[in-house]
Amino acid sequence: MYINFWYPIVRSEDLGPDQPEKVKVLGVNLVAFRDDDGNAHVLSDTCVHRGGSLGGAWSGPESAPRILNGCIVCPYHGWEFSGDGKCQNIPSIGYGTKPPARAKIDAYPTQEKYGIVFAFLGDLPEGERPPLLDVEEYGREGWRANTVLILEVDYFYERSIENALDPAHNEFVHPTHGFSGINRDTYKVNDYATEDHEQGYGMWFMHKFNAPPLKGKTWGSAREKGGDLWAGGGTYGPNTVITYINVQPGMGFRQYFFEQPVDEKHTRIFFLNMRNFMLEPEQDGPIHARNKAIAKQDIDILMDLYPTQTPISNAKEVLMPADKAIVAYRDWLAKFDESGWRIDLDAFNKRDAKQTAFAIPSPARRESGNWVVEPMPLLSSRSARKQSKDEAA
Ligand code: FES
Ligand SMILES: [Fe+2]
Repeated sequence: MYINFWYPIVRSEDLGPDQPEKVKVLGVNLVAFRDDDGNAHVLSDTCVHRGGSLGGAWSGPESAPRILNGCIVCPYHGWEFSGDGKCQNIPSIGYGTKPPARAKIDAYPTQEKYGIVFAFLGDLPEGERPPLLDVEEYGREGWRANTVLILEVDYFYERSIENALDPAHNEFVHPTHGFSGINRDTYKVNDYATEDHEQGYGMWFMHKFNAPPLKGKTWGSAREKGGDLWAGGGTYGPNTVITYINVQPGMGFRQYFFEQPVDEKHTRIFFLNMRNFMLEPEQDGPIHARNKAIAKQDIDILMDLYPTQTPISNAKEVLMPADKAIVAYRDWLAKFDESGWRIDLDAFNKRDAKQTAFAIPSPARRESGNWVVEPMPLLSSRSARKQSKDEAA
């Protein structure tokens, strides 16, 4: 898991005006809320007073708002934090009395796009941040987006990303695609090449496969004859995977998985499905239903993988040419490691939630000191680790 990328936090439609949403991402709790103008904010959920959960249970009177004057109110002793993470009021010293400088929590840059509230979880200054992925066809004429579907899965997000890059699993996992039944005399995955994603921070590939004719009308009537089709996609950052499925030339789906790593064992996938055919709104429901059925087939397989995370080295699996896209994704992860953005999960797990609260460091940590909650432990880059190992030897 990595800091310094944009992560989906909550669907726009699920973040109301008066109700904060508590969300766990990268192993730590965050709270999202809207200010009086409707702008979304995402903060560390941990109140620096005595560890109250800003988005947690509220037993105050219903007449007392949880969000007041653009501030989120801590349910424990009523401290009020504005969207920039600064405490504005501490009731016990009197409303209007200036809180101490240490009364601040991490606040994350936020963008609302594609029906999702995204937060930049990291401390990079604005000019150095990997941008949020541009979904070029979103809002463009001739394309229609389904409302974002949330898939909650009980496995590590990198295993999920790799599955979406895997052209060799369809015939075995997805009989409902219509590709069931392998001809043992002719079947193989065609060779393909990988390249960098045009927006950077990831890889891209397209591969040709021979699709037999569709049986019945499971996919509308868009493709009936079968033949060579192209599918593929790529990654963007550690947690976004894109799939292009051309059901026939000029007609296809573009599927975006914006993945929210909850922790090492849980992931919430924000699934945006775009299409340039079957544009009628009444097709949304059947497309959702179909996508859910396909996802279920993947989920059943991925629940059982061992090890649960991507292995420490490619030599710990027997990878084939069809796995080239997965290798290219892992190469990008290695680059993110090199930037020092990888969370040190062992160090985190050892101390998390015992005497220590952690927060993902926000950009403000580069501008001021005196932070109460500890920043997530990070692994130094692979080369720095190797160097310190060599020096110790
Ligand atoms: S713990 Fe939040 S106000 Fe006391
Ligand atoms: Fe799949």
